[in-house]
Amino acid sequence: MTGVIVKAAVVSSFGAAPRYAEFPAPAPAGDHDMILDVIAAGLHPRVRSQADGSHYTSTGELPLVPGIDGVGRGPDGLLRYFILPDTRVGAMAEQTVIDARRSIVLPAGSDPIAVAAAMNPAMSSWIALRQRVPFQPGQDVLVLGATGHAGRLAVQVARLLGAGQIIAAGRDATRLAALPALGATSTVPLGGDAGPARQLGQAAADVDVVLDYLWGQPAAEAMAAIVTGRADRGRPLTWIAIGSVAGPSAPVPSAALRAARLQIVGSGQGSVSAGEILAELPALADQISSGTFRIDARPMPLTEVEQAWAEASRTAQRIVLTPREAFGAGRRGPR
Ligand SMILES: NC(=O)c1ccc[n+]([C@@H]2O[C@H](COP(=O)([O-])OP(=O)(O)OC[C@H]3O[C@@H](n4cnc5c(N)ncnc54)[C@H](OP(=O)(O)O)[C@@H]3O)[C@@H](O)[C@H]2O)c1
Repeated sequence: MTGVIVKAAVVSSFGAAPRYAEFPAPAPAGDHDMILDVIAAGLHPRVRSQADGSHYTSTGELPLVPGIDGVGRGPDGLLRYFILPDTRVGAMAEQTVIDARRSIVLPAGSDPIAVAAAMNPAMSSWIALRQRVPFQPGQDVLVLGATGHAGRLAVQVARLLGAGQIIAAGRDATRLAALPALGATSTVPLGGDAGPARQLGQAAADVDVVLDYLWGQPAAEAMAAIVTGRADRGRPLTWIAIGSVAGPSAPVPSAALRAARLQIVGSGQGSVSAGEILAELPALADQISSGTFRIDARPMPLTEVEQAWAEASRTAQRIVLTPREAFGAGRRGPR
């Protein structure tokens, strides 16, 4: 620590939301470390699980400052997007310490709010399709759990990368109905009495790739239905586990793996190397900065961190905390 005190979102108990409080500023330790003034940090699901101690990387140590990535400005005056390693001193503070090798300089004119909101959810499909599997333009994609931020961006990323059919399956009817405008060629409602698995077995039976944000029971049911409904079971089907909002484990039927040419892989930190992830950041940041994707971000000042935590579970917008007031003023809708 430097002896300098900064304002930060501070978690003192895993049972409560972070509070706006003082925290000792971290000190640079390695050759590539750089102190950054944080401008924007996204409140992603991964940040919520970090802050409540439920993420698998949690060491149980408190207090901690949450935040896994963000946008900030260093002593060189350049605007950077950065990803932090697992740390107790995260991005939701006036200042943080980054490893410059885990950051990229953003294009001139980049919107820090859009970048902080979208890089994490957009990366999930971008990296899966560009690094994890040999995706080819023209292949058909099912986005399972398409109504969250990552799912909505997955539809847009699949379109940008040249997917053929893009089938979007999701629970929230209103957000599902908005997905054709973003690139979905068809939609399948999940939940309720609509027989979602059966519908997927018809609408998505012949896809090449599944970008799965759900996992859990719905993924297992969808898998069985798609495999059963497939016209050609010898046609490769690559199922990419990206998120687990419906459950951390799934009862995958053995028959699904034996009866069709199905391979299940995961995509995320670890299954994709840090180098592969970093290599993709500039191109993705360019797309976000140039307005390719529709992003629904809502900046909130860091001073309102407790309110932001409450809002995060209610709003369809991705909340972005802004330690510097100039960026926290006002609210914005989708762009
Ligand atoms: N591996 C990676 O690289 C990576 C990167 C980013 C995110 N992720 C993961 O991707 C997942 C989604 O992230 P996100 O940023 O999109 O979160 P998000 O914006 O909070 O969206 C999650 C969505 O999941 C839907 N959902 C929740 N339970 C469901 C269920 N049982 N059945 C169907 N839909 C359900 C909800 O949609 P409805 O309102 O329609 O129910 C919600 O909007 C998380 O697990 C996250 O950790 C992975």
